[in-house]
Amino acid sequence: MAEGERPFYHRFAWAYDLLVDDPVEPWLRAVEAALPGPRATVLDAGCGTGRHAVALAVRGHVVTGVDASRELLDVAGDRARRAAVAVHLVRADLRTLDLAATADAVACRGVLNDLLEDRDRAAVLGALARHVRQGGALVLDVRDHDATARRYGAGTGSRRSVDVESGRLTFAWRGRFDRRTGRLAVDEEHRLREGDAEEVVRHAFAMRCWSPQELRDRLDAAGFTAVALRPATGRRGADRIVATARRPG
Ligand SMILES: C[S@@+](CC[C@H](N)C(=O)[O-])C[C@H]1O[C@@H](n2cnc3c(N)ncnc32)[C@H](O)[C@@H]1O
Repeated sequence: MAEGERPFYHRFAWAYDLLVDDPVEPWLRAVEAALPGPRATVLDAGCGTGRHAVALAVRGHVVTGVDASRELLDVAGDRARRAAVAVHLVRADLRTLDLAATADAVACRGVLNDLLEDRDRAAVLGALARHVRQGGALVLDVRDHDATARRYGAGTGSRRSVDVESGRLTFAWRGRFDRRTGRLAVDEEHRLREGDAEEVVRHAFAMRCWSPQELRDRLDAAGFTAVALRPATGRRGADRIVATARRPG
């Protein structure tokens, strides 16, 4: 694991779906509502373990999944094989994505909070815009700044243990919102117990949340129109914004 890599996306990618098992249907509904019909083309930007990409392919859509993590893409590939569907999986950084193809819709869920710098936010939204066909849609989900500040102002944590093939894995998560930087400071811990042996991996990082105004401004700057925002519920509460936008036809 390279220094700075989030263990959740790399060393413990194999356990991602054991720890994140919230239903995929709400997001599938949001994406499908933006599609022109059956057998649409969808680019899942930041597809992770392919939870949504594979489900969309099972529903008959033609799906490409892009992610920066080789380990998560391996999990996505296994998932597609088990479901007996084809999903084109590409390892790439969304900031510089250039697939030379466009889709009816680009879906991007839970990814953009990982981008801390303004230039990276602008680069990713520009890249996503280049991959939506004219008249096509972008559907994305981010953490809402104010709702996250309310929820994590004093610091909030959670812990989950799951049985795994070799023993027991405990995952602990703690978030605290820093009003000065507008960032959510996160401490994560994976603790894998196998017989008498225990591996503990800790990681501290930050997420940067989005205000509705920033989202509108950046979508506008990337050339999107018909922007619609709505509040949504994430894994840890009602602290998300789902945005849909169109690329002019
Ligand atoms: C919280 S996960 C969400 C995964 C998936 N969309 C889901 O809802 O299950 C965030 C994903 O974004 C990916 N990611 C973050 N920054 C990225 C970047 N710059 N380029 C490509 N992938 C990125 C991570 O590797 C990870 O798979």
